[in-house]
Amino acid sequence: MDHRLFFPATQRNKIYIGDVLSTLQLKDGFVLEIGSGSGEHGVAFQKRFPEIIWQTSDPELKHRKSIISWIDYEKLNNKMPKPFELDVTKIPWPIPNKLQDTLQVIIAINMIHITPWECTESLFKESGKLLDYGKFLILYGPFKVENKHICESNELFDKSLKIKNSNWGVRNLDEVNKEAMINGYQKKQFIQMPANNFILIYEKIS
Ligand SMILES: C[S@@+](CC[C@H](N)C(=O)[O-])C[C@H]1O[C@@H](n2cnc3c(N)ncnc32)[C@H](O)[C@@H]1O
Repeated sequence: MDHRLFFPATQRNKIYIGDVLSTLQLKDGFVLEIGSGSGEHGVAFQKRFPEIIWQTSDPELKHRKSIISWIDYEKLNNKMPKPFELDVTKIPWPIPNKLQDTLQVIIAINMIHITPWECTESLFKESGKLLDYGKFLILYGPFKVENKHICESNELFDKSLKIKNSNWGVRNLDEVNKEAMINGYQKKQFIQMPANNFILIYEKIS
């Protein structure tokens, strides 16, 4: 059965996100993707970066089924592991040993504004336990700068999120940075991306 899901924004942003990832020159080991959704990013990045192993995860079964279908469709079964169930708030994270040993990056794309704030707290706290010195936590999505929206469309988007769930919302960069700091990360690079998004690259330093 083909369970592939298609997320239009994901197809649009995968090139730009991939371009930023390429600057990190990842050579080997694992990348762990949190909240992988359809799996379109996962297969795109596994094809673009064959030196690394892209490990997807998602708490939702329909997403994990879609990811498996995408892996089949792209004939990446020999390279790419199947997704596993990971809800960032369920601790400890069920991380396979071999992944933990060579983990280079943890990445969450368009996830922290579509989940309650406790997911962001948990993401920083638990990823901080897994990543060694010099490794990266990467977030992609819309953010407020100095607690202000950077454009009207983000403000409208934020309102629409809060109508769906009052605990969701575009996060304030200062608050996100605070979580990073208390969990042993420093800012490596923040890059403004197309469609009023940012990539935040944090480096583990303690
Ligand atoms: C807007 S989708 C983004 C999917 C994908 N990263 C993309 O950009 O296409 C948000 C994703 O976060 C996942 N998610 C929701 N709550 C989560 C949690 N507590 N832990 C981990 N992932 C979660 C959802 O299942 C969904 O796949």
